[in-house]
Amino acid sequence: MAIQILPTHAFSGQRPGTSGLRKKVTVFMQPMYLENFVQALFDVLNGVAADGSVGTALHGHTLVLGGDGRFYNRQAVQTILKLAAANGVQRVLLGQGGILSTPAVSAVIRGRQAFGGIVLSASHNPGGPDGDFGIKYNASNGGPANETLTEAVYARTQVLTQVRRSDAPDINIDTLGTCQVEQMQVDVIDPVADYAAVMRSLFDFEMLRGMFQKGFTMRVDAMNAVGGPYAKAILEGELGAPAGTVVNGSPLEDFGGLHPDPNPVNAEDLINHMMAADAPDFGAAMDGDADRNMVLGRKFVVSPSDSLALMTAHARLIPGYKEGLLGVARSMPTSAAVDRVAKAMGLDCYETPTGWKFFGNLLDAGRVTLCGEESYGTGSSHVREKDGLWAILFWLSLQGATGRSVESLVREHWRTYGRNYYSRHDYEAIQTAVADALITDLRAALPALQGQTFGKRAVTVADDFAYTDPVDGSVSARQGIRIIFDDGARVIFRLSGTGTEGATLRIYLENYEADVLQQDRAAQEALSDLIALAEQLSGVRGRTGMARPTVAT
Ligand code: G1P
Ligand code: ZN
Repeated sequence: MAIQILPTHAFSGQRPGTSGLRKKVTVFMQPMYLENFVQALFDVLNGVAADGSVGTALHGHTLVLGGDGRFYNRQAVQTILKLAAANGVQRVLLGQGGILSTPAVSAVIRGRQAFGGIVLSASHNPGGPDGDFGIKYNASNGGPANETLTEAVYARTQVLTQVRRSDAPDINIDTLGTCQVEQMQVDVIDPVADYAAVMRSLFDFEMLRGMFQKGFTMRVDAMNAVGGPYAKAILEGELGAPAGTVVNGSPLEDFGGLHPDPNPVNAEDLINHMMAADAPDFGAAMDGDADRNMVLGRKFVVSPSDSLALMTAHARLIPGYKEGLLGVARSMPTSAAVDRVAKAMGLDCYETPTGWKFFGNLLDAGRVTLCGEESYGTGSSHVREKDGLWAILFWLSLQGATGRSVESLVREHWRTYGRNYYSRHDYEAIQTAVADALITDLRAALPALQGQTFGKRAVTVADDFAYTDPVDGSVSARQGIRIIFDDGARVIFRLSGTGTEGATLRIYLENYEADVLQQDRAAQEALSDLIALAEQLSGVRGRTGMARPTVAT
């Protein structure tokens, strides 16, 4: 076995987006494409000096590696192992079969004090040969790399001329145990064990076991993605939920054709089961890499923003949070439902740009315990990623501890705090130039919007959201156009950073309703005037020729 030096070159667009580098599988399969990015990552981790020479900071350290099992996962694992061995990595902790959910990677990095980890996933994007693939680096805190590091990696991808790779043969990634690639040790580990231990430390497993013994029913749709093995081991294995509680529970390379995005549109089968006469008590779904969650009661869908607010309100019922919360954080487009709870409880509430990486500093600094996004992501300080199964166990525990149904918990919440009606409208695969022009025009119109009235509402804030990180002082500008009204309503426009085809415009709509009698409307109806206003301000339908959003959740 020997280290080979192979020529490479700059590829266009190897700049990581909201959550890592995400591209079509066909793009990733180009010769040297993955190698170029991974070599750039290793160079940056090793340290690149001003004269271009590469240091050895990574040498002698351990990396965690695993992915969501989608098409190209297994091949990518073998490639990365050969590069790691040639770039000084001492040891890799590899999930068996190349499998590790995103929250599990975070748990393993933290639990075993690894240098960092590589997650192979395109999250909720479709998989298979025509689908998407992705790669993301997480640092030693278990969380997504910060912008300084991802920018440095991108810069490095553009100047690289050589890749260092071992010519060692592929290893067996399916059998637990230890083997070598060159001088590097590879430990093939159980993907679930470390993660399950963290869950045991947070939740009252005895109480949860008791719920299932008494006949509590639940349906978890793992959408043929990586959450299946975790949900089966914990819910059916440890907690005694009946076999079949977890459906679509084996990871498939193409997710069985499903779009593993847990929202009412893509998890339609789960919705149908939860709306049926014989619906179980509780329903939930996770996405491709098991960091997202959707939770439902019988005939009742919980909006992710409400989920974060309820978790905050009831956190003390969960053993892991019984001492209370340090604070909470939400991404800017997420509804302000949690703000009301935080205010009532005297908790600090932070508003960050979209993307989990912004929560990391707040969690590390001990400023917040819970965080969440409108995009079906919720999590806590137990790892540095959002965590689908954790959220499901949290909601299961809330039902067990209160003896109440999902619907009754949410309705009680609205009675106490009012309801933040919420919806996100996505216009997908629009031409990049059209999307950019729309945002540029909106940005230009902002000063004139200030103070204007629309019907009974007056604009109090019209800006492009900028965030100064309270921990390290770094500034992230242009994070989304916000139009906020005096009654708490908000219309927000931003372009997706995770799409892989053209541009995706997201329009976030929120309307606060304190009046209990007004709280029983369908969200789209309660938001209809804001939907019209968003069209008036942006002209998205005229500009794109799309009569309606691709997805409205
Ligand atoms: C989307 C979500 C965002 C989430 C990210 C990764 O990013 O909107 O909340 O953090 O996926 O799961 P976007 O495509 O909007 O940039
Ligand atoms: Zn995900």
